[in-house]
Formats: sequence, C-alpha cells, structure tokens
Amino acid sequence: MIHLRGTAFDVVVDLSHGVPAIVYWGAPIDGPATATSALDRPLVFGLPDQIAPVSVVPEHAAGFTGRPGLLGHRRRGTHWAPRFEPLDHHLDGNRLVAVAHDPLAALRLTTTIDVADCLVVSTELTNAHESDRYLLDGLTVTLPVAEHLDELLTFSGRWTRELQPERTSWAHGAMTAENRRGRTSHETPSLLFAGTTGFGEWGGEVVGAHLAWSGNHTWLADRLGDGRRYLQLGELLHPGECSLEPGESYRTPDVVAVWSGDGLTSATQRFHRRLRARPEHPERPRPVLVNTWEAVYFDHDLDTLRDLADRAARVGAERFVLDDGWFGSRRDDTSGLGDWVVSPEAHPQGLAPLIEHVTGLGMEFGIWVEPEMVNPDSDLYRAHPEWALVTDGYEPPLGRNQLVLDLARPEAFEHVLGQLDELLGAHDISFVKWDMNRDHIAGSGSDGAAGTHDQTLALYRLLDELRRRHPGVEIESCSSGGARIDHEILRRTDRVWTSDCNDALERQTIQRGASMLVPPELMGAHIGPPRAHTTGRRHGLAFRGATALFGHLGIEWDLRSLGDDDLDAVAEVVALHKRLRPLLHHGDVVRFDTDDAFVAHGVYAPNRTEGVVSFTRMATTASLTPPPLRLPGLDQERTYRVEHVALPHERPGPGRTRPNWWETGLVATGRDLERVGLQLPALHTETAVLLHLTAT
Ligand code: DGJ
Repeated sequence: MIHLRGTAFDVVVDLSHGVPAIVYWGAPIDGPATATSALDRPLVFGLPDQIAPVSVVPEHAAGFTGRPGLLGHRRRGTHWAPRFEPLDHHLDGNRLVAVAHDPLAALRLTTTIDVADCLVVSTELTNAHESDRYLLDGLTVTLPVAEHLDELLTFSGRWTRELQPERTSWAHGAMTAENRRGRTSHETPSLLFAGTTGFGEWGGEVVGAHLAWSGNHTWLADRLGDGRRYLQLGELLHPGECSLEPGESYRTPDVVAVWSGDGLTSATQRFHRRLRARPEHPERPRPVLVNTWEAVYFDHDLDTLRDLADRAARVGAERFVLDDGWFGSRRDDTSGLGDWVVSPEAHPQGLAPLIEHVTGLGMEFGIWVEPEMVNPDSDLYRAHPEWALVTDGYEPPLGRNQLVLDLARPEAFEHVLGQLDELLGAHDISFVKWDMNRDHIAGSGSDGAAGTHDQTLALYRLLDELRRRHPGVEIESCSSGGARIDHEILRRTDRVWTSDCNDALERQTIQRGASMLVPPELMGAHIGPPRAHTTGRRHGLAFRGATALFGHLGIEWDLRSLGDDDLDAVAEVVALHKRLRPLLHHGDVVRFDTDDAFVAHGVYAPNRTEGVVSFTRMATTASLTPPPLRLPGLDQERTYRVEHVALPHERPGPGRTRPNWWETGLVATGRDLERVGLQLPALHTETAVLLHLTAT
C-alpha cells in the first residue's frame, strides 16, 4: 500500500494485485491501511466470487465486467484478456512507477502515478514477446470515483460555442463520449467532473479528470452493478491504428485529475496551478495584441496594415498579429495552405516593411500559420500529392477546401519544419498563431493504417523542434477557435485561442467553461467589433471590454473605423487591463453560483489582499433587480473596500437609482461579503459590471 500526499489531497495505491489500483483519492487521511480494510467489500450473489479491483487498467480476466482498460490481442484473437502480476515498483517522492507483467501474454505494463497539485496517471504497454506482434485496440487510464459522487458535469460544444456545461445525474450504467476529429475537438472536450448532488462552485465534494491529448479520445463514466463508479479516459484508436512489434511500447496520454472538498472553483484552480508550474510558463506580462483577422480578413495591403498598426499602438497594444492571407496563393480560403513563403502579390516588398513599421511602433510582430494542412490548390500539393493524409483509392472529403498533411512522413515533416524555420529565422517574429482547421477524416499513414496517432505525435515533435530552434517565440494553439484546448498542447504552446466567437455574451459562457481547465493568462480573449461577426449581435464597448479583459487580452476589430473618442475609450480598456494584469494573470480564478440569467466570476490575489469580480446579466428575470451577489473565498477576517470600476461608455441600466454604496464604495469583512452579499444595480441584459476589492 503506497500513500501519496499531494498539496491538497491524498492518494492511496494498492500494488498487491499486479496493476496498481488507486483505492482512495480525496481529503488527507491518517492511515492508508484504512482505505483497504475499511473499504473491503462483501461477496454478493449474482457476481463473481472474486471482486476485481478497479485498477488503473481493470482486467476482464480478473473478473472486472466493466470496460477493460486494455483492449487488444495477438494472432487469431489470442491473449485478448491478459492478467498482470506485480513485478517491481519505485517510489521517488510523490511519484510512483509500478511495473506489472503477464508472462503468458508476454506483455508488460508500466504505470506512473504522480501527485502534486493534480494527480497525474499514465501507463505504458510493452510487447515483450520475442517474435509476435500485439494489436492494440485501446489502453485507457481508469480512476475509481467514490460512490457518493453521483452527479456529472460534462461539456459539449461546436464551432463558436465551445465548452458548454451539461449536468447529468449519474445513477446506474454508463455515459461515454468518443472524439474522432483528430484534434481535441469543439464537441467533446476531454474534461469531466463528478460530485455530490448539486455540487457548486463553493460547495460539495468534486473530482475532475482531463485527458492531456490533442488527437482522438474517449471518456467513460460508468457505474458497475455492485455500485462502484469509475472514470476512464484515453486515446481512441482507430481499428489497426496501433500494432506493437516485439519490443515496442505504447504510452497513454496523461490523465490529469483533481479533487476538492469545497466545490468546483478550488478543484479547477489545481489545473491552473499545474500549468503555471510548467518551466516554460510565460512569466513576463502577457502582451495585449491586435489581430488582423476580423479587421481585414484576406485583404492584405501594406498601407491598410500600417494604418491598423498605428491605431493598435495608439490604443496601447503591445503585439500586432498578421492573420491568414500573407503567403502563397492565399487570397481566400480555397488555396495556398502548404506554401509558407511570403506572397509577392499580397506583400510585394515582403514582410519587412510591415514588421519594421510594427516594431518601430514598439510592438512585437506575430504571424498566422496552419502547418498541418495543405490545399489541393497549392504548389506543395502539386509537387507532393502523396503527402496528404488520405486513404489511397478513396476520394478524400475536404474540410474548408483543405486536406491534412501527413507529418509522420519524414520528408513532409522536414519540408514544413524547414519553411517555418526559415520564416522565423528571416524575420523579427515573436509570436506564431498556429491554426488547425480540418478534422482528420479517413487519414491513413504511408503504411495504410489509420494515421491520427502518429500525426498527433508528429505535431508535438514539430512544435518541440521549432521551439528548440526559436526559444523566444510564443505560440498560440488555435483550431477553428477552441478545438485544441488541452494540457498536452499547452506543454508546447503559450496560449489557446478560446473561440472564433468574439460576441461578449457567448464569450461569458465559453470563457467560464475554458476557465475550468486553463488559467486566464493562457486564454486568448479579444474585443471584437460592436456587431459580432459570428452572431450578428450588437454590444457596447463596456460589455465587450469587461468580458475580454479577463483573459490574455486582444483586439480583433478594424480600428481604422474608429474616431478619436472611440480610440480613447479602447485605450482606456487596455489601460485598465494592464493595471489589473498582475492580479488577473497570477491570481486564483473564482466563479460564483448564480441563477442562469447571470454569470459571476473573478480573480482573487493568492494572499487575498485584492480581487476583481465581474457580474453579467445574460437574460431578463422574473425580478427586476438581481439578487445580492455573495462573495465566498475572501479572507474572512480582513476588511475589504469594494468599488465599482467604471468602464468607458458604460450604460447605467434601467434602475432609477444605484445601491447606496455604488458611488462611494463599501467597506465590509470577507466574512460579511460571503454571508450577506452585495446588492448590485438593476442591469440591462447583456451588460456587465466590474468590482474591485482591496484589503484595507
Ligand atoms: C480559424 C481561426 O480560428 C481564426 O481565428 C482565423 O485565424 C482563421 N482560421 C483564419 O483562416
């Protein structure tokens, strides 16, 4: 029995069965032995005479009747249900590595369990046979879930509507999701939580699990006939995608899990701490950027772009990002992907005049690329049609007129690496927006087998190599908006593009979902134009600003259409963001439970001396005024000064008066702010107010 103590919760691992079994994870406990003796289960009629543990890789051969953790076989279907024995283990601080083997099946399983802010579990299968290959259909990581955690929070989504929460009661049976899009996906984010009935942001026991992987995946939440619950997460392998030759291994992606005894907010802060602890986590202030996409789309013209850059600098932007349209024949989205050379048509003098202009204004320069793709109408495809990740003999479905480039082919990999290396070497580029807009559909590698697994690893290698060669360049993970938001892509990128939707109303929910996994400094959030391009809704600057400033702020709006007063107003939002940036990007993200008509969230300084809170009315309600907003999680003993932060062009809302404290501020203890709450003004729908809290 191994007792691992993390920063906030304990994990007890039983090694006696072969594959390690996590028998307990939760609030710190005194004795690991309790976890096994006190939880010993009686035999019951109707079930096998042995109770198979819910191990990290549960075994059908041991009597486990849920979905086995390992699916695969050798020739003629043999060795399809292996059973492992313990071989060895090694404990280094809070990191346990346990090796188990099945001598009959000639398979070895090496499981790593690491506990710090999060519980991180992975396992590796090795084909130890001398001559026979093993066909692997799936290897997933299983985590038991305490039986009283009977409500699930999962996420759905689509393009421009990512990370939408869904609550389900978890009575009996299974709920599962399968993602075959070859990217983390809009539809099936690899994140789910289970908690006590009605668990909220500040109440209830909660566990959460995330698969750190950017390809296909599956997750399962299952309750067995005997009442035990488990979560299972792993890569989804296509038929025949992974065959292990003698001596070869397959390692699962990391499953990253969190526990909290006091609700979702503190559970999800642990995911943030894990990302903030990465050695490559950006420490310097996150540059406010202007992105050209919704400003000019494919219409690149040096004078226009210079004009936009002037205005970007005028409002306080620190980075200027040239989006799609600068290369090859890319004048619209039908051609050019794959040809990463500056277009003489769009930029007759090359990129230098624009870059010099941008850097001369004191801003960094960033550029858009989509290196995993190729348009059939491109020089690259004409020269190497065989480099597309398709299945020979079948007409490949296009997505946005494009195909996936098979990066697992060394020649294709070297070609793209060479072009990107040259682009970054030849220009003063500090930031790359790395996009990915087509699903992997029926993509076979050069051996004819499904190619998504190899492609995902090749993508990681490409990013790693590029970062090695250009260590100062920051990279954004974008995939038609937020289809590639996961902890593994974030090991080699510096922010995610959360959504192509810049409509502040939609963004309130999207960013709330994303905040469950990613801290604000890694979450791209832009102020779009007054009329959102993806929804047609209109919002004032105050609401758009109040929404975007909670992430890594950007502006995606044709600033050339603004007069001086409006530019000043945008500059005011940017200045406010910069003032709050140290708090926003280093503090603890807090979310508050409200009726669905409102969204309330904020960031508290880790030492609780400061905070900023946003309160949005999303829809009308039966009552005219919103209910008092309670602010849990502050220092109970401290006294805070709460002030309304005025945003430019803020409209007062429908009330005849504001609450008394509104103009002067309010002084109250953290305890009272939690217990009594704060009355806010009656708000128009689709408006937000910001509050700033300072400990006195
Ligand atoms: C999809 C991205 O999500 C957008 O932000 C933009 O970069 C376009 N691609 C460009 O084609």
